[in-house]
Amino acid sequence: MSTTRIQFLISTISILLLCTTTCKAQNNPVSLCSSSSCGNIRNISYPFRLKGGPKTCGYPNSNFELDCQNNQTIFNLKSAKYFVEAIDYSKFSIRFVDPGLEKGNLSSCPVYSVDYDDWPSTIFNMFFDWNIPVAFIHCLAPINSSIYVKSAFCGNRSNIFSNSSEIYSYVTVGQYIHLSDLEDSCTVDRVFQASSHRTMRDSSSLSGIYESLAYGFELSWFRVLCGECKKSNGFCSLEGNQVSCKHYCREDIPLSQLGFGCQFEYWGTIIGVFAAIIIAAIIGLKFLCGFPFLVGLVVYKWRRRHLSVDESIEDFLQSQNNLMPIKYSYSEIKKMTNNFKEKLGEGAYGTVFKGKLRSGPYVAVKLMGKSMANDQEFISEVGTIGRIHHINVVQLIGFCVEGSKCALVYDFMPKGSLDKYICPQEGRALSLSYEKMFEISLGVASGVDYLHRGCDMQILHFDIKPHNILLDENFNPKISDFGLAKLYPTNDSIVSLTAARGTMGYMAPEMFYKNIGGVSYKADVYSFGMLLMEMAGRRKNMNPFADSVSQIYFPSWVYEQLHAGKDVEIKDAVEKEKKMVKKMIMVALWCIQMKPSDRPSMNKVVEMLEGDSELQMPPKPFVAPREIAEDHGINVAL
Ligand SMILES: *[C@@H]1O[C@H](CO)[C@@H](O)[C@H](O)[C@H]1NC(C)=O
Ligand SMILES: *[C@@H]1O[C@H](CO)[C@@H](O)[C@H](O)[C@H]1NC(C)=O
Ligand SMILES: *[C@@H]1O[C@H](CO)[C@@H](O)[C@H](O)[C@H]1NC(C)=O
Ligand SMILES: *[C@@H]1O[C@H](CO)[C@@H](O)[C@H](O)[C@H]1NC(C)=O
Ligand SMILES: *[C@@H]1O[C@H](CO)[C@@H](O)[C@H](O)[C@H]1NC(C)=O
Ligand SMILES: *[C@@H]1O[C@H](CO)[C@@H](O)[C@H](O)[C@H]1NC(C)=O
Repeated sequence: MSTTRIQFLISTISILLLCTTTCKAQNNPVSLCSSSSCGNIRNISYPFRLKGGPKTCGYPNSNFELDCQNNQTIFNLKSAKYFVEAIDYSKFSIRFVDPGLEKGNLSSCPVYSVDYDDWPSTIFNMFFDWNIPVAFIHCLAPINSSIYVKSAFCGNRSNIFSNSSEIYSYVTVGQYIHLSDLEDSCTVDRVFQASSHRTMRDSSSLSGIYESLAYGFELSWFRVLCGECKKSNGFCSLEGNQVSCKHYCREDIPLSQLGFGCQFEYWGTIIGVFAAIIIAAIIGLKFLCGFPFLVGLVVYKWRRRHLSVDESIEDFLQSQNNLMPIKYSYSEIKKMTNNFKEKLGEGAYGTVFKGKLRSGPYVAVKLMGKSMANDQEFISEVGTIGRIHHINVVQLIGFCVEGSKCALVYDFMPKGSLDKYICPQEGRALSLSYEKMFEISLGVASGVDYLHRGCDMQILHFDIKPHNILLDENFNPKISDFGLAKLYPTNDSIVSLTAARGTMGYMAPEMFYKNIGGVSYKADVYSFGMLLMEMAGRRKNMNPFADSVSQIYFPSWVYEQLHAGKDVEIKDAVEKEKKMVKKMIMVALWCIQMKPSDRPSMNKVVEMLEGDSELQMPPKPFVAPREIAEDHGINVAL
């Protein structure tokens, strides 16, 4: 190489180096931007910036550009403007007040309804426990109820369809505002949020409610700090005052590779080992040792290799991270299950056999049935479950695809499926304590919550039912059977389905009545509610052989009981157990609401089950099939 060329190379490299360092300095948002102030917000700094400041400061999103007018900091949303009351950089929160509210003026009205959908969810987080909804309503007749407090009218006069000059306005506070409790003459005008950090001291007086409204509502912008975490496909969350990044998802499995990649590598290595040994043997050992030793050596090597595959499974079970499911050959599957000797059960998509890995642990091997029209369910299951890890989701160890034969290898769950314990047949399965049943329900709830929110993708199961909840030796529940599951981007709230999925009795009504609302994660919430109801009632929800006609459909019977103010009657249960069962029933009734929008999200369900506070009586969850049909002009043969 000539000297000029070397000089050229050196100068190019130094220019590149120089460039990278300068670019770095420019990308650092904090170093170049000083904080600014407006009125009582003294410290406006990253991710926020004041309008008019350098464009490169602050988080690159127009929502973080604050306005300053008459010493008042203003936050601009597409559909609303709020006054900024406080920014807390230590807990990544910002507090807003509606500009219509005047301190101390109990007839002033907020101007903007707070609609979560208006806030870019990729940046702002609404924590349910930070705020509490406050609704302004008006009625054409007076209501006599302690939860509705007389207030000024805060709606739009032109929306009142009545001749009568007299209207009655109220304000009410609550996590769930019961539209169904409202008299027919009432209309909700606006819904706001008030901070629940400063717990509303008195929600039964107008001044108490206004004090909270004037304090404002809070939300978090911690997601702007999730960039690195998102890039590494982590699950970013706020824990206390820390932004944490967790890697639950083994996202490193491109589906396209599942079919061929690993198999080729595996056989490639084996063939390579064979070839090397044979060649070495032929050249070197031929005269020394003779043929029998050669065979012994080959067999030994092959078995070592084979064992090491299984040993890595144990590593996998322990490390839980970054290990792909293992690809097995069909003959290995056959060996593992001792030629499919012990059948554990039969599902819609295949038969499950008991097996044992060479390295010791027992496994359940699901052999997919031949009746499968295509491999969609199989790919769906491997693709979904192969990527995730959670204590309440069954762990996929490996799989096998060979011609028309497909199999999945799971952790073995010695206690079988939950349906055996819900209505135990005499003498067959032991019955679980109420406390254990409650723990199981909480486990299933957090498993489903994890599927919905724990990964980059939203996993909708679509077939939550007792048969698909397996129990390990300590009765820890694990969600299984992902044959109907689908992956969606997390921001897709409504999903499209070509065919109704699920099992009758657990399937959400929107699956077959299109007019109720779109299909979303709320379909899983419904199925979970039906499951929870069966766990609480220890019976099938639908039992034609019940003691009395009114008890045939358990959810509607139990709703009527609770609605009439009666308590749950359970034989041989202590007070604590009765409380637990009642809580399960209440949460279940919330989950099986007819309209998807009335059902809580899964993390709310976990909160409700874990919490100690008295739950509000849910609205009547169902309409008889005939009523829905008439509502929507559908003809249903009953
Ligand atoms: C804003 O506040 C500063 C000092 O705090 C005061 O001097 C100024 O007059 C105020 N401006 C308006 C428009 O109120
Ligand atoms: C403003 O807040 C930022 C972020 O917490 C902090 O780094 C900075 O020191 C603060 N500046 C002033 C003047 O308080
Ligand atoms: C209170 O607010 C109402 C509605 O905005 C307004 O009409 C009224 O003048 C205010 N009262 C006082 C004392 O500011
Ligand atoms: C409102 O209800 C309470 C108890 O529910 C009753 O004592 C009171 O008389 C009622 N008031 C009116 C005006 O109906
Ligand atoms: C009140 O409602 C009418 C008709 O719906 C609408 O045109 C008008 O803009 C509304 N006024 C306000 C202040 O929202
Ligand atoms: C409203 O007023 C009109 C005429 O003033 C009357 O014909 C109509 O019946 C009234 N409607 C109601 C609901 O009172």
